[in-house]
Amino acid sequence: MILEFKDVNYIYDPDSTISSVALKDINLSIREGVFYALIGHTGSGKSTLIQHMNGLIQPTSGEVLYKGMSLRDKNADLKMIRSRVGLVFQYPEHQLFETTVYDDVAFGPKNLKLPKDEIDARVKEALILTGVDESVWQNSPFELSGGQKRRVAIAGVLAMKPEVLILDEPTAGLDPGGRDEILNVLKRLHSEEKITIILVSHSMEDVAGYADRIIVMNKGHIEYEDSPVQIFRHAEELKNMGLSVPQVTDVLTRLKSKGWPVKDGIITVSEAADEIMRVLGKA
Ligand SMILES: Nc1ncnc2c1ncn2[C@@H]1O[C@H](COP(=O)(O)OP(=O)(O)O)[C@@H](O)[C@H]1O
Ligand SMILES: [Mg+2]
Repeated sequence: MILEFKDVNYIYDPDSTISSVALKDINLSIREGVFYALIGHTGSGKSTLIQHMNGLIQPTSGEVLYKGMSLRDKNADLKMIRSRVGLVFQYPEHQLFETTVYDDVAFGPKNLKLPKDEIDARVKEALILTGVDESVWQNSPFELSGGQKRRVAIAGVLAMKPEVLILDEPTAGLDPGGRDEILNVLKRLHSEEKITIILVSHSMEDVAGYADRIIVMNKGHIEYEDSPVQIFRHAEELKNMGLSVPQVTDVLTRLKSKGWPVKDGIITVSEAADEIMRVLGKA
């Protein structure tokens, strides 16, 4: 187990009149090599939860463990843990600041005081993995498109060689092309680099075809943690939480209710197309 939450509660401003409970009784295990999606309505506690994963926020009560060590432990090396558990904030491109793309990605490894060759190797690898074209490595990051900037920001975290990569709504505000680029980068990092991914999103549509497991948050609590197919069986409950099932899942459920012999558990457009063709072929 790479990360564990044990009975974690978190309250913002606990001793004031504006105190608000953001996390309630969180018990969660994050296993190595799994692609997770963390889903929930706005204000459900997603961002608060992930900031506990590398000790940026400490629980009000309960514990977060990294490989069995409590992040509260005096011996916990938070600097090391933050390089192993990489967190990409929402709109990470707002944090780009160096004069070139290359230097921006090199910033973290330089802080680790790594040898120059190692820094260079990591920067290049991270930029290649995120699909940032070599022709712009010496350009200012501010000249890039929104999707490219965001990939540079992700490369900056990857250059730390994390075991876990957590991304807070990484597709927010991108056009469909930029969104697909980012999601495909994550898919590749997971399948080829074996990085554990935690993708925060409020869109079921975005994550359905990518995640191995979906964690659903509702009002500061974890409502479900299961495979996408199992999660989408709870269409009604999800709707009541302000979430939805992927459009194609909805369409197939309706076809089924009208007597079409379609399979359950269809969550992507290509599966849906195949299934509809199969049924039409039979008809
Ligand atoms: N810095 C903060 N101070 C006080 N309350 C906060 C702060 N950040 C978030 N909250 C509150 O905590 C709850 C969870 O928020 P958040 O973790 O940002 O949810 P999400 O990322 O799912 O939108 C919300 O009620 C939100 O208003
Ligand atoms: Mg958030």
